[in-house]
Amino acid sequence: MVMPLVLAIAWGCAKAFRGLGAEIAATYLNEKARKHVEPLAQELQAPILMPLDVRVEGQMEAVFERIGKEWGKLDFVVHSIAFAPREALHGRVVDVPREGFLTTMDVSCWTFIRMAHLAEPLMRRGGTLFTMTYYGSQMVVENYNVMGVAKAALESAVRYLAADLGPKGIRVHAISPGPLATRAASGIPEFDRLLNKAKAKAATRSLVSIDEVGLATAFLAHDAARPITGETLYVDGGYHIID
Ligand SMILES: NC(=O)c1ccc[n+]([C@@H]2O[C@H](COP(=O)([O-])OP(=O)(O)OC[C@H]3O[C@@H](n4cnc5c(N)ncnc54)[C@H](O)[C@@H]3O)[C@@H](O)[C@H]2O)c1
Repeated sequence: MVMPLVLAIAWGCAKAFRGLGAEIAATYLNEKARKHVEPLAQELQAPILMPLDVRVEGQMEAVFERIGKEWGKLDFVVHSIAFAPREALHGRVVDVPREGFLTTMDVSCWTFIRMAHLAEPLMRRGGTLFTMTYYGSQMVVENYNVMGVAKAALESAVRYLAADLGPKGIRVHAISPGPLATRAASGIPEFDRLLNKAKAKAATRSLVSIDEVGLATAFLAHDAARPITGETLYVDGGYHIID
């Protein structure tokens, strides 16, 4: 089945933050991705647009260095990336090769820890760090495989980072959206079945949109949410509460 792809969750977040008055720094993976991201960045009047492949040494540092130079501070970070090599994602967890496992953990989990490290000195007056996770971290979801293992580590990292950075007024959250037919999701076999199941089982009997995920994320960045940190917030129409 050909699924109509929706734009990235990061785009939903960027629109919501911009709608509330934030200035946005955006990144794109490589030159191929640039032509898709550039018009969106222009729509948001993003003053900073930079390449960021987290596997290329120095690119992440360069992004935070520029933000430090131009803005001198940072209020929030949205880490909305994940990757698993095809052979690692498509196989049973019991068979996963070391290299595929390490790549999955590196891109999908460690990079969030590294971003927190680089953001900390720019959040002198506090801030909020976000990453995107999925229910497959808590329950065995068919075809989610090694990514579920990486998301479990990511959610744990969120709690440890929240404890590390809490005294500095920096809050850390994972957002756990229900399934969305984005590009990343198209790498998961039989994803349309997952969408149908989500719609049928969710308390709201509906799928979520990137705009809804963006608004929920923006809420947690707001001062009104200051006492909340270390959370995994489900934006899934209540899917996770139903047996
Ligand atoms: N789509 C869903 O159903 C769903 C549900 C829950 C959580 N998530 C999570 O949301 C996040 C965003 O995914 P999405 O659904 O918006 O799909 P997406 O494909 O739009 O986003 C994934 C992003 O990861 C980036 N990426 C991959 N490797 C990278 C690297 N080496 N360096 C820098 N960037 C890299 C890609 O360029 C892409 O922009 C991911 O963490 C995903 O696991 C997605």
